[in-house]
Amino acid sequence: MKITTTENILTTSADVLVINIYENLELSETSLTVDEKLGGWLNTTMKNHQFTGKSGTLLTIPTFDKLPVKVILLIGLGKKAELKNDDIRKASAKIIKAVKDLKMEKIVSTLPIVDDICTSVQAYIEGAILGDYQFNKFKSISTESPTTVINELIIEEKTPDVKEAIQRGIIVATAECISRDLANEPPDSMTPAILAGKAQEIADKYQLTCTIWDEKKIVEERMNCLYMVGRGSTNPPRFIQIEYKPENATKKVCIIGKGLCYDSGGLSLKPSDSMRTMKADMAGAAAVIGIMQAVAQLKPNIAITGMIPACENMIDGGAYKVDDILRARNGKTIEIDNTDAEGRLALADALSYASEFEFDEIIDMATLTGGCVIALSRVWTAVMGNNEELQNRLIEAGKATGELMWPLPFDKEVRDFLDSDIADIKNSGGREGSAIQGGMFLQEFVTNKCWAHLDIAGTAFIDKPRPYRAKGGTGEPVRAIVEYLTR
Ligand code: BES
Ligand code: MN
Ligand code: ZN
Repeated sequence: MKITTTENILTTSADVLVINIYENLELSETSLTVDEKLGGWLNTTMKNHQFTGKSGTLLTIPTFDKLPVKVILLIGLGKKAELKNDDIRKASAKIIKAVKDLKMEKIVSTLPIVDDICTSVQAYIEGAILGDYQFNKFKSISTESPTTVINELIIEEKTPDVKEAIQRGIIVATAECISRDLANEPPDSMTPAILAGKAQEIADKYQLTCTIWDEKKIVEERMNCLYMVGRGSTNPPRFIQIEYKPENATKKVCIIGKGLCYDSGGLSLKPSDSMRTMKADMAGAAAVIGIMQAVAQLKPNIAITGMIPACENMIDGGAYKVDDILRARNGKTIEIDNTDAEGRLALADALSYASEFEFDEIIDMATLTGGCVIALSRVWTAVMGNNEELQNRLIEAGKATGELMWPLPFDKEVRDFLDSDIADIKNSGGREGSAIQGGMFLQEFVTNKCWAHLDIAGTAFIDKPRPYRAKGGTGEPVRAIVEYLTR
């Protein structure tokens, strides 16, 4: 989708002219001009259809060649005072879908604005790109109903800042779509080695440094947990590092993503129904790759290192066992209570490694627990950690981008569930507060004072579509973290 600007939307030719209508508000200047050109037909049609601008309502009006577009599409935005930036994302996604249904390709559109024009423009562009997203590379192309592609979206340009906001929206939404693609890819075409190849590809394209460790190097580097989780698979593990290093960086941040390219549960095998979607157990890794792509283009003045422990939790004679004791990179021993609590093991090595450097902040993202989905549904990412300020800043960035987060508490009494009789800790202590247990397990491998853990088990993958999130990988929390890192 090409995105361009125009100074006068009413003289720009396209297939569809989109006009935003607020509920029960007098028509805007643009709408009045359009109405005049159509000899009052806009107003009449609105009355005939009782179109009042209620949120999410649509109305198409033919133009009879009185304007350089074929049809006018009215979209209701609801009450002006209640409109939020995330509603703008939802509205633009809805517009894209409606225009596709009309089998039309070129849109010229007015802009809804909440508070600040730049954030609104960015939200509008994000909604359009995210709403247009489809994962259809495995679908044979049907000649009977070819899919419509939106070729061009033209928006009005009122101030010069608009161009920059558009660019930002394109960069962030495109990065989020990359993460969606990676998570949607079936597991046999997204093994740890292939994932590492994708990271390398993006690093090469945007002049980032990429380092990939294979299984031999992983053992040499004492990332024994990552190695053991991956030992039951024919597709060996990888440890991936991507670095963005601007000169004179003001701080150093590390982002870590769980990269379980498949999670069958291992010997503590998942029931079939729960195994479904476990191709996306690398959504944290996918988010890290998307974020690195976005920051490489937005160039914030901080150094950012992305780390991904990538492996598959599978079963063969080499699979790690319940009762095994593994030694993590930081020397702590872990008794295996359940091989399905594997993500925290892979992350234990990554967090231990990250703690050896002087990062000002460490943020990990992981589809860590089913319990998180039960607690917070698919709407909120759980945020935990050892620094309340960092958590609050992340929550704020989430609010600004429509990728919501909610904090979960830590307490020693929950940590006690993880006590082992014969090792330093065990990897699972049952179902009570399992998201918190997961977070407190990870804490054992962090020495930094500023660390946050995001459990994205609910938000990274959805089985029912939402306004600008298609079924499947959502790319969450790419927008929130990019916002946080570039603020
Ligand atoms: N990858 C899963 C968590 C998950 C579940 C993500 C559902 C997305 C949707 C994780 O590895 C897992 O299996 N967690 C277990 C931990 C338990 C054994 C302590 C869980 O949550 O049941
Ligand atoms: Mn698991
Ligand atoms: Zn998992």
